[in-house]
Amino acid sequence: MNRISVINTIIDHTGARAYLEIGVKQGLTFMQVNAEKRTGVDPGWPGLKFYWRLARTPQMRFFKITSDRFFETRRPMLEKNGIDIALVDGLHEYHQSLSDVENCLKYLSPDGAVVMHDCNPQSVAAALSPYTPAGRQRANQPGTWNGDVWKTIVYLRSHHDDLRVFVLDCDHGVGVVTRGKPEGMLDFDKEAIDEMGYATLERDRRHILNLKPPDYIHEFMVAHLGT
Ligand SMILES: C[S@@+](CC[C@H](N)C(=O)[O-])C[C@H]1O[C@@H](n2cnc3c(N)ncnc32)[C@H](O)[C@@H]1O
Repeated sequence: MNRISVINTIIDHTGARAYLEIGVKQGLTFMQVNAEKRTGVDPGWPGLKFYWRLARTPQMRFFKITSDRFFETRRPMLEKNGIDIALVDGLHEYHQSLSDVENCLKYLSPDGAVVMHDCNPQSVAAALSPYTPAGRQRANQPGTWNGDVWKTIVYLRSHHDDLRVFVLDCDHGVGVVTRGKPEGMLDFDKEAIDEMGYATLERDRRHILNLKPPDYIHEFMVAHLGT
């Protein structure tokens, strides 16, 4: 299981049509997702091959801007099309990924899901914030770097009693966020999450992330949709 198969499993269950990907890079996931209408957002340059494939498929759109700019300027389009499923995989930073998730939730259809990549870093170095000098350096080096996206899971599980949130234990931690009654909540205020370090995650990652085995996505979707 990886982020692509998780997204396609959710699409199989819900019949999701409108897909939004924040942080597309070269389109590895974007091109393999089975949604009919795909929208990608990334301020970077994904490469000519990506644009060439995009041009052949009228149901795919790409915006070469940051996610913040996209949500600021494309509100009418988002209101018209909605979001059935989103992948948040842009800047690997706590506040940015939280803002991306919360913006997606504004347009998310009732049975929709927001999937998040990089929620389960395995070392202090992989979990560095890109807003620290060491994190900035790490982000630009080869090797695994997930950033502090995991704190968005902590925030959502502490402050949203209307969301189901869990992380699948595969592919650097694939977070899944849907509407619904939480299985259980955390109790961390905003300041505590800001100050929280990797040691807290390492001490109790199963509980903190509501970590589930990868195949849990199948049983979750059946229960979520009541089918
Ligand atoms: C890890 S890559 C995405 C990988 C891609 N989702 C995949 O599965 O193959 C992260 C991407 O996020 C983009 N990015 C960085 N900051 C961003 C922002 N503020 N808004 C949207 N995308 C951003 C980067 O340019 C980069 O291409």
